[in-house]
Amino acid sequence: MQQIFQCVSNGLKGTLQVPGDKSISHRSIMFGAISTGVTEIENFLLGEDCLCTISCFQKLGVQIEQNGTKVKVLGTGTKNFTYPAEVLDVGNSGTTIRLMLGILAGTTISAELIGDASIEKRPMKRVVEPLRLMGAQITGREDGNFTPLQVKGAMLKGIHYSSQIASAQVKSAILLAGLHAEGETSVTEPYISRDHTERMLSYFGGYIERKGTTVTVKGRQKLFARKIFVPSDISSAAFWMVAGLIVPNSHIVLSNVGLNPTRDGIIEVLKNMQADIQISDLQNKDFEPFGTVEVSFSLLQATEIGGALIPRLIDEIPILALLATQANGKTVIKDAKELKVKETNRIDTVVKELKKFGAHIEATEDGMCIIGPTPLHGAHVQSHGDHRIGMMLIVASMIAKGETVIDGIEAISVSYPDFLTDYEKLKSQ
Ligand code: S3P
Repeated sequence: MQQIFQCVSNGLKGTLQVPGDKSISHRSIMFGAISTGVTEIENFLLGEDCLCTISCFQKLGVQIEQNGTKVKVLGTGTKNFTYPAEVLDVGNSGTTIRLMLGILAGTTISAELIGDASIEKRPMKRVVEPLRLMGAQITGREDGNFTPLQVKGAMLKGIHYSSQIASAQVKSAILLAGLHAEGETSVTEPYISRDHTERMLSYFGGYIERKGTTVTVKGRQKLFARKIFVPSDISSAAFWMVAGLIVPNSHIVLSNVGLNPTRDGIIEVLKNMQADIQISDLQNKDFEPFGTVEVSFSLLQATEIGGALIPRLIDEIPILALLATQANGKTVIKDAKELKVKETNRIDTVVKELKKFGAHIEATEDGMCIIGPTPLHGAHVQSHGDHRIGMMLIVASMIAKGETVIDGIEAISVSYPDFLTDYEKLKSQ
């Protein structure tokens, strides 16, 4: 689908609560399904990715009731999963497929997992390999590196795994398999990736230990249903943080934004860039911290982003690249090779599409360099089917002089179906 955008003339103003966190929403269904009792979820993300997770678990016989953003999962543990009559289709969702492989590996059922054209290209060996070391029986295209994948439940044993990449999907798949394995399972990563799985596991009554970058779970644990409030997704809020900073005359307040320290790298970067950003009302309800984030239009300085910061803001790099086009000086993003295996190759798609607006941006081996500030002009661009590229391009259109035509706008439904409604709200206040 194609849509035409004009730049914003009077600034963006107002208060928003962006939708629930995608990573936490997926996990709330998964933990609800593998524990016993009724898990009640509030502020669940109704994006396509999380709806795919619901439908996959329903196909495994788990009862899930959805009423708007309130969801109930009637958990009976993995022992009661039933053979799915159909293949499990994860759509565009890497988190669904990778974490489900970990959950299914230690059950007594078999299933086939497929996804869309983007999932077909994304590497699965990173989870299949450690799971096989645990005894998992997984087959698939190119020795199990690509979908379609078949998993046949097996008896698992715990392992100590040292991952080459800081990936929460890899870590979580192994830990979830470890819950159904004999003995202890631990994962060490080069830097700490998002820790939602660890937090939720202990919130559901499980035992988990962290030492430095190593996390350990005990096998054959019982988990118990809980009530969950899903904070708003900092990765979705990021689009409005950047819009508020680069569209002149803007002032945006974002409430209940998840501020988990393994996810808040963007706040650190924005402060380094001298952005006018304030955090208030910090709360630590249940198991995930959240608070209010307020931004106003700012004159920004370039920065360097790399190392341990990368996993803390990996999904925000497309929108940070746009921000950097408006900052004074040369921004360097490095150590971010993982971008190449996201929903699209996000080094290539970001550089290609931002260049069309006139940005000074070049790809590097492991990231990109951006020189600013550069006034942008309207362009004909495309999302490449990637939700975060689609939203980044809409934010670019807000400051691009003239008309911007965006192809593939429907991709945004993966994580933020009401993005354009929220845009209208901020334009009209
Ligand atoms: C996610 C982990 C990250 C992130 C993705 C969601 C998760 O991927 O990019 O959008 O929910 O665990 P990696 O674990 O591959 O870095």
